[in-house]
Amino acid sequence: MDNLQYMSGFGNEFVSEDPRCLGAVPKNQNSPQTCPYGLYAEQLSGSAFTCPRTSNKRSWLYRILPSAKHEPFKPYHHSFLTHDWDSVPPNPNQMRWAPFHIPSVQEIGKVDFVEGLHTLCGAGDPKVRTGLAVHVYTCNSGMGDKAFYSSDGNLLLVPQQGTLYITTEFGKMVVEPNEICVIQLGMRFSVNVDGMSRGYILEVFGASFELPDLGPIGANGLANPRDFLTPTACYEDRSCDYTIVSKYQGKLFCAKQDHSPFDVVGWHGNYTPYKYNLDRFMVINAVKFDHADPSIFTVLTAQSTRPGVAIADFVIFPPRWSVQEHTFRPPYYHRNCMSEFMGIIKGDYEAKKGSLPGGGTLHSMMTPHGPDAACFEAASREEMVPKVVAAGTQAFMFESSMSMAITNWGNETCRVVDDEYFQCWAPIQKHFDPQWDPSEQFEE
Ligand code: FE2
Repeated sequence: MDNLQYMSGFGNEFVSEDPRCLGAVPKNQNSPQTCPYGLYAEQLSGSAFTCPRTSNKRSWLYRILPSAKHEPFKPYHHSFLTHDWDSVPPNPNQMRWAPFHIPSVQEIGKVDFVEGLHTLCGAGDPKVRTGLAVHVYTCNSGMGDKAFYSSDGNLLLVPQQGTLYITTEFGKMVVEPNEICVIQLGMRFSVNVDGMSRGYILEVFGASFELPDLGPIGANGLANPRDFLTPTACYEDRSCDYTIVSKYQGKLFCAKQDHSPFDVVGWHGNYTPYKYNLDRFMVINAVKFDHADPSIFTVLTAQSTRPGVAIADFVIFPPRWSVQEHTFRPPYYHRNCMSEFMGIIKGDYEAKKGSLPGGGTLHSMMTPHGPDAACFEAASREEMVPKVVAAGTQAFMFESSMSMAITNWGNETCRVVDDEYFQCWAPIQKHFDPQWDPSEQFEE
């Protein structure tokens, strides 16, 4: 992929010009009266014009033709992308999915990223700008002369199998498994792949992904701003039969145009796509005793209007040292006022057998969950020595304050629901002993 360069920093104000046309970004937005190189100026707004400066997001694109030059949008049929959260009766049970099936070309022909979108669960409504959807993509072919954008939400892509070669209006990104990327509201992109590819998408309506506040942690730690990479301008000047697919109010629409939408020669602003390598996450954890909440593993958060309450957090469980003394170290049993969707990018999840890369689990609001019986027994007796946990693994969670509903595809059509998931807790034994000697208790 030519011209693959990045600028580092989270939410920075960048200026980027394709090296073939230096000076493409004028000193002012719309003056002089005509743009350098005969370009059109177009603003892409990611926040209300009047948002406070700290949350104000916009970029100016200097492009060969304005985005408005296209034929009318028409409905684009899609079987598995939906925001109908009432098609399946509510189900509070723990859910687990085996790896989602990736169709081969031999099986059903070419399937691209857009055709391979499947909505698994979600809540809320893009029309009122609050909510989220969890999608799974499975595809085997590139999108060709087709671009996609969401008018509904910000997209966080988590590739699990296969590298994504993404062309955006801002430039090109290569996103491999164990990396993530965020493509914000309205940004057009096209995905190419090497072959059978699968991953997860968190789409948040009405809130931007931000770095979490660090509080007493200080100025450094968790995901550091410098490790976020934004592509640099790279245009193509191509007349062709191009299809623009828009996700709008939960449905897809397509419009034809006679030119490539990736014709941005230069841009400036703080509203951009970006990527991040999960290996760059600075892990923080308890170093004496007890168990920290998983919020210490938050990479990005999309906050609701309630202080400290996220529409969705993106959280990872990376390889790390576990050093706590006198402590049950795995995730604790709990019931949460949040919905937790988990997926595994690679390796074996530390707290449970049977959860596999490319599949997922959903523990809904107040639904009990925690380590399986074998994990509990082993961790209750393990020697309290420092050790690496989750080696070779990358698990993640989309955690939401909203009560998510499962779609028809997630409930049945995907055909990988594990009906025996509840059995992982069935062997849990009672250890209650009313004669237990309190003097056995460790006192810190
Ligand atoms: Fe949980």
